[in-house]
Amino acid sequence: MTTTVVRAPAKINLGLSVGPLRDDGFHELATVYMALDLHDTVRVTSRDDEQVTVTVQADAQEGDEAVAVPLGPDNLAVRAVELLRGAAEVTNGVDLAIRKVIPVAGGMAGGSSDAAAALVGANHVWGLGWDREALAELAADLGSDVPFLLHGGVGIGTGRGEKISPVLSRGRYGFIVVVASEGLSTPSVYAEFDRLEPEPEAPRIAPELMSALRGHDTERLGEHLANDLEAAALSLRPELDRVLQIGLDAGALAGIVSGSGPTCVFLLEDDADAAMLTTALWAAPGCADVIHTHGPAAGARIVS
Ligand code: C5P
Repeated sequence: MTTTVVRAPAKINLGLSVGPLRDDGFHELATVYMALDLHDTVRVTSRDDEQVTVTVQADAQEGDEAVAVPLGPDNLAVRAVELLRGAAEVTNGVDLAIRKVIPVAGGMAGGSSDAAAALVGANHVWGLGWDREALAELAADLGSDVPFLLHGGVGIGTGRGEKISPVLSRGRYGFIVVVASEGLSTPSVYAEFDRLEPEPEAPRIAPELMSALRGHDTERLGEHLANDLEAAALSLRPELDRVLQIGLDAGALAGIVSGSGPTCVFLLEDDADAAMLTTALWAAPGCADVIHTHGPAAGARIVS
C-alpha cells in the first residue's frame, strides 16, 4: 500500500474578463490566475481492490464547511481519479483523505484544486509516470480551472479558462482573504452576469496588469485588478460591497471579489498592514474567516 500527500493550492483571478456565452453553455474567458500559499491537503493511498473512497476533514473553526463537500461519486477528486483510472486502464482504487482549508463554494477553486491534487497523487501511487501536460488534458474535462491548478504560479487562461499559458511574473505578493459564511454557486453568478450584461465584448487582458506582474509593481497591480463577475456577485450578495469598502478603508491597496465569489481578496502594499486589515475585516458583514496569505505558489505538488 503506497501513500502520498499532495498540496492543493487556492487560486485567485487577478484579472477576469468574461465574454459571450458559447453554444456549450460556457463563457469565453481571458483571465490571469495566481495560485496562493493557502491550500488544502490531499492524502492519496492506493488500494488493492478497485474502490475509490473519500473523507473530508475541515479545521475546527470551519467545521461546517465539510458538510458542503459531496462525499460520493459527485466529489470532483473522486471523479478525477476515476477518469485517470479509465484512461490509464488501472484496476486498483485509492482512498482520498482531504483536509479542507480553502473556502467551499468561495470562488477560489478549492474543489478543482483537490481534483488536480488527486490526479497528481493517484498518478504517483499507481506508478503511472504521466507528465503534467498529460494530466492537464484530462483535467480540462473536470472543470475549467483544473488545468491551471496543476501548473500553478501565474498563468493566463483562455477558452473557457482551461487553456493555460505561463506569465512572466517577478516577486511575491501579500493578500488578505475574507471568507463568507455562505458560499455562492458559480452557475448562478454567471447567470446573473448574463442578465446584467447580455452582450459582452470579446474578453481581453489589460496589458498594464501584465506589465505590473513583469515589473513586480504592487501599486500598479492593485490599480489593474479587475473582475467582470464582481457586479454579478455584488448583485446576488449586496453586503460584499461593504466588505470591499472596509478593506479599502483599513489600508488595502485594492480589493476584489475572487472569481465568482463570495470570497473577497485584498492586495497588501506591505505585510505590516495585515494585522490592521485582519482586525477591521473580522467585523465585516457575513465574515466567517480572515486569512493572510501570499502568492504565487506552486501548482498541485507532492509534499511527502
Ligand atoms: O468549468 P466549471 O465546472 O468550473 O464551471 C462551472 C460552471 O460555471 C459552468 O457550468 C458554467 O455555468 C459556469 N462557467 C461559465 N463559463 C466558464 C466557466 C464556467 O459559464 N468559462
